[in-house]
This record gives sequence, structure tokens and C-alpha cells, in this order.
Amino acid sequence: MRVVILISGRGSNMEALLRAGLPVEFAAVISNKAEAEGLKIARELGVETVVVNHKDYPDRAAYDAKLAEAIDGHGADLICLAGFMRILSEGFVNRYAGRMINIHPSLLPAFTGLDTHARALAAGVKLHGCTVHYVTPELDAGPIVVQAAVPVLGGDTPDSLGARVLEQEHRIYPLAVRWIAEGRIALTGDGRTSLQGSPASTAVLISPQG
Ligand code: GAR
Repeated sequence: MRVVILISGRGSNMEALLRAGLPVEFAAVISNKAEAEGLKIARELGVETVVVNHKDYPDRAAYDAKLAEAIDGHGADLICLAGFMRILSEGFVNRYAGRMINIHPSLLPAFTGLDTHARALAAGVKLHGCTVHYVTPELDAGPIVVQAAVPVLGGDTPDSLGARVLEQEHRIYPLAVRWIAEGRIALTGDGRTSLQGSPASTAVLISPQG
């Protein structure tokens, strides 16, 4: 399976994917920003990098066409959005239906969009987390592959909570790609996915623990 990763910045999820020893070939890392720190890490890890700068294109359609050209030129079977901070056009998303996944820093469907950690704190939730999901035209709303929850602790700031969530992002994104590469994830057609061969678990996470 040939995988292309799209980033805009730091690239820590990209790095987690590249270092996870997954049974896939990473064909390229593509960024919409030349200064994205993740590009340097990808090059150090021997992965080809490409910049498709949105500022070079007059509109979203022109940009998305160029992005698709770069993705298809690398023969991508799976596209992983990893902190790729661009809204993608419906045509672009539909072109890669069932082949493009994203990681989002909340337990979807709660807290779609930006500033998820600050909003979780403001809402007073006791559990927060992250989600890997297939990308559909509706923002942060596609079929969920895997989620991880963390407790919200007294005294948490958006940064401390975000760091706790990020640790879990680095666990579940490689897990999702592994399962997909192994052919274990089925899109069930009703907006959900199912995992073949999942172990039964009765683990419960309660926060606060008292
Ligand atoms: C990650 O926390 C990811 O979940 C989030 O951006 C961060 C990128 O960090 N993505 C979104 O908010 C997408 N809506 P990284 O560049 O270090 O992986």
C-alpha cells in the first residue's frame, strides 16, 4: 500500500507514522507550506517531500487540482491528513472517497473545527481525546476508525490537555493505518466502520476517578 501524508506544520503525527514500522510504503509527504517543520523530518527519514503552496494558485479549485496531481503522481492508495490545515473542496474529497483519513484532536462528533482543547475545557467535559476518521465533504464528520480518550485533570490548560491528547494521537494514527493496510477496516456504508478480528474488551475509563 502506497501512502502519501499531507501536513502543514510540525509533523509530529507524520513522524509517528513514518517511525511506526508499518507494512506500507510512504511515497511522499506533501505540504502546503514550504516552511513546515515536518518536511525536514520527512527528508531526514528518507521520504520524498513536495510543496504545493496554496498561495501560488488563484482559487481552491486550481489548488486542489494541483494537489491531486501531486498525490496521483505518487500512486497513492491511502492519503493521511496529519495536521493539514486546509479545507478541501467537495470534488477533491469525493475523488479520494474511502482512501483518505484524518486525525482530529477531539472525541468526534464533539468539538469539530479548531481550538478543541480550549473548548473541551470550557465545556467542562471530564474525558477528551482524539479520533482517526475517513474524510467526507462535511468537516470532521466521516466514518470513525479509532478513538482514544484521556482524562481531563483539575488545573489542565489547553496546552497540558493537548499534550496528553497528542501522545494518544501518536498511538492511534499508526494503529489505524496498520489496520487499513492489513485490510481489517470495512466501511459499512452507513457512515461507520468495523474492525475485523477486534478483541473483545470491557475496559472502562472513568474520570475523575475519585
Ligand atoms: C494535531 O493535533 C492534529 O490532530 C491536529 O493538528 C495537530 C497537528 O500536529 N489536526 C487538526 O486539528 C485537524 N482538524 P502535528 O503537525 O504535530 O501532527
